[in-house]
Amino acid sequence: MIAGFPELTAAEAASLIKDNENIGFGGFTPAGSPKAVSREIARRAIEEHEAGRPFSVGVITGASTGPSLDGVLAASDAIKFRTPYQSDPELRKRINTGKTQFFDMHLSQLPQAVRYGFLGDVDWAIVEVCDIKPGGEVVLTSSVGASPTFLHKAKRVILELNKRHPAALRGFHDIYEPDDPPTRTHIPIYHPSDRIGSETVMIDPAKIAGVVATDLDDEVSAFDEPNDVTKKIGENVADFLAGELRAGRIAPDFLPIQSGVGNVANAVLFAMGGHPDIPAFSMYTEVIQDSVIALMRQNRIKFASGSSLTISPEVLDGLYRDLESFRGRLLLRPQEISNHPEVVRRLGIISINTALELDLYGNVNSTHVMGRQMMNGIGGSGDFTRNAFISVFTCPSTVKGGKISPIVPMVSHLDHSEHSVQVIVTEHGVADLRGKSPHERARLIIEKCADPSYRPLLEAYLALGGEAHTPQSFDNAYALHRAFLAAGDMRTAVIAGS
Ligand code: COA
Repeated sequence: MIAGFPELTAAEAASLIKDNENIGFGGFTPAGSPKAVSREIARRAIEEHEAGRPFSVGVITGASTGPSLDGVLAASDAIKFRTPYQSDPELRKRINTGKTQFFDMHLSQLPQAVRYGFLGDVDWAIVEVCDIKPGGEVVLTSSVGASPTFLHKAKRVILELNKRHPAALRGFHDIYEPDDPPTRTHIPIYHPSDRIGSETVMIDPAKIAGVVATDLDDEVSAFDEPNDVTKKIGENVADFLAGELRAGRIAPDFLPIQSGVGNVANAVLFAMGGHPDIPAFSMYTEVIQDSVIALMRQNRIKFASGSSLTISPEVLDGLYRDLESFRGRLLLRPQEISNHPEVVRRLGIISINTALELDLYGNVNSTHVMGRQMMNGIGGSGDFTRNAFISVFTCPSTVKGGKISPIVPMVSHLDHSEHSVQVIVTEHGVADLRGKSPHERARLIIEKCADPSYRPLLEAYLALGGEAHTPQSFDNAYALHRAFLAAGDMRTAVIAGS
């Protein structure tokens, strides 16, 4: 027994799960997501399939997970449906060949969609914790995500007690679930550091089927070191924001930053942290990456509120060694709160996210390669962008050795419309789209952000658009995409009439 609950092996816990059930897995990114029971569910799926019996489960998570969850479940064909976000190569392959049904959701909306019953019953919550008390009180580990909602809504609960995370994490979480309409009130966060909830989650003890003891690292991989292009993008973002500060459009103490996921986002944060004119700032973000911890150690980041510590095992070790020096400076919240549109708008957050593709008018595609292949998902980029004080999108001006221009005449999939996107930054420069008409936006994006090798094609497209409010040519809108699909290089595109 552990804290009065049955101790189970991961295999015993997995044997409780039935075909076709829906599971809410805790965690947010590979940080704090279960890693033991999911492996055994995958093993069971293989055995069931070999015995000629069907076995698959609905997989609902906070965000992406690691190879021990999405990777193994995808590889064993154990996923009935998947939402709201993923980044596992094996799962992505199945999603993009139509084998796994995936629906991409704004991450702030996932917990309420679960509570509203939009995703069906949650039969099980499987959640990683670092401490359990006999009455069912638990301390979560390196993330919060949607765990409080899964624990509250699920019919039954399996806990993974991972001793890799210290029980001293108690106090680093702020657990708060809003009431549902029509009785929902405001979310009382007025500063990034405001606490509004409890340190722990209370689970109905009658629902806890058992506890699996583990000792497993979070499967977070380190990001690439910034290269010349990502460094320049970072510098351009930092210079732009320093200019806004000088112009008095950003308050002297600065405004809280949300920074997206990935290599570009990491480089941007380092550039902001190193900029002499940007004061120490706070983060009100979704994912706290390695760069945030490094900048907190240098006192360049004063406070970080997020939903996960998505940091590599070495950085996490260092953090746990110095945990007390971070107490009161780091707070992990449910994704519903870290990404809440009301709070984002109130705090005046500066959002900085990475686009896969964007068009001449400022529409952004964050998710679909060539309009067809899902990369990861929209994540929190929509939650923040739509409500930000200033919304910034970054991308390199070319990818795949120059064969693709992320700046295209018309995006092949739309995640963020021109109405929400304010500033575009590449390594070449900054296009500030605020207060600009479609014609003006297009000219700025071509002149400041597009790669010189693509400017003539984009200018030719604009010239074809005619006397319109938003110049478009249906015959040419996807000329660059078609050229890439036909010849492997967008530069071979022919814009008719050019
Ligand atoms: N067409 C085809 N491929 C493209 C592309 C385009 N327009 N733009 C980028 N890519 C490819 C890159 O070449 C790279 O491929 P590789 O892994 O084979 O080298 C891959 O996409 C990732 O690009 P990278 O430059 O490493 O970017 P990143 O790590 O900064 O991630 C996103 C960029 C867009 C994939 C990532 O930020 C994301 O998933 N965003 C959506 C969710 C989000 O914004 N969350 C934050 C909210 S808090």
